[in-house]
Amino acid sequence: MPGGNRMNRSLIMLVLFTSLFTGLAACVPPSNPLNGLDQLWDVPHPSAQPDEEAGKTQNRASDDLLEGTEDDRAKDSFAKEDDLQKNAAQAGDKNEVREPSTGKGSHPSSDEKTSSDDTSPPSEKKQDEAGRIIVDDPLSYMVLVDHRHALPEGFEPPDLVEADIPFDKPSGDERRLLREQAARAIEALFQAAQDDGVELIGISGYRSYDLQASIFAYQVQKKGEKEATRVSARPGTSEHQTGLAIDVADKSGKCLLEPCFGEMPAGQWLKAHAHTYGFIIRYPEDGEALTGYMYEPWHLRYVGKEVATTIYERGDTLETYLKDNRRELIDRQGDAQSRQNP
Ligand code: DAL
Ligand code: ZN
Repeated sequence: MPGGNRMNRSLIMLVLFTSLFTGLAACVPPSNPLNGLDQLWDVPHPSAQPDEEAGKTQNRASDDLLEGTEDDRAKDSFAKEDDLQKNAAQAGDKNEVREPSTGKGSHPSSDEKTSSDDTSPPSEKKQDEAGRIIVDDPLSYMVLVDHRHALPEGFEPPDLVEADIPFDKPSGDERRLLREQAARAIEALFQAAQDDGVELIGISGYRSYDLQASIFAYQVQKKGEKEATRVSARPGTSEHQTGLAIDVADKSGKCLLEPCFGEMPAGQWLKAHAHTYGFIIRYPEDGEALTGYMYEPWHLRYVGKEVATTIYERGDTLETYLKDNRRELIDRQGDAQSRQNP
């Protein structure tokens, strides 16, 4: 029948057109929000991961908005954070407080190596299967751990202790731990904040590889992989695993793990004073191109007072600070060599 032939021809055309379109779409490279870092560290970006929910963009603030009044939201905030990490809690056997052990980590002296001042070419550095550099100084207080720099497999700091500050987590939860020096520093910071009328609470300090794996998986399930990587680190690449990072909140729970925390008195106090106690606001506003993460005014990273103060005064990120430091080191080595071989 002529009508049937026309239908067949239309169907064939439709199939051909669809195949062509799908083929073209597969050729479009995914956008890389970390192009700045590619240049910064001269290493290839870890291979692009499949984007489960491409096109769905949500940020943490809108994602976490709950029904109800401000006060309702505040009341629910801590439960919400626990909910966020509920899968993680299933790694319960990992959540026991470990006995404090005597760590051998110490603040790096000027001639101690850090991942940042390693001047060996990227090709000579150890890399993981995704092309990330495996840091060789995980116990340095200046260690760089980010999308491109991973901790060695099985890394666990030897000197984790429970920080003596209020936490929203129960006794025995690993997230109450920090490396000893960072724990003492956060205790001093919390005391100083309280003296100034700011009541803080600890949310999440140390997180093991397994716990981070659960949190990251949960975020991927919730937002899709691409958006998840803007707010949550893949296991092995979280600063929380170093024992040098801690998320804090206002005791009221308002703006918990949300950008608006930065505008609250507690967030403002941290911005102005954290460096005095050796901490930096690790993921500053508008810093995503450099750090790889969205603004997190609650995430404090211990680097020691001197470095924290320099970063604060220069308005640097850890990445830019370390890059400059590395360049200074190369320059100094160059000077020394030219003095030896004029
Ligand atoms: N939220 C920070 C980036 C982490 O997951 O370590
Ligand atoms: Zn954090």
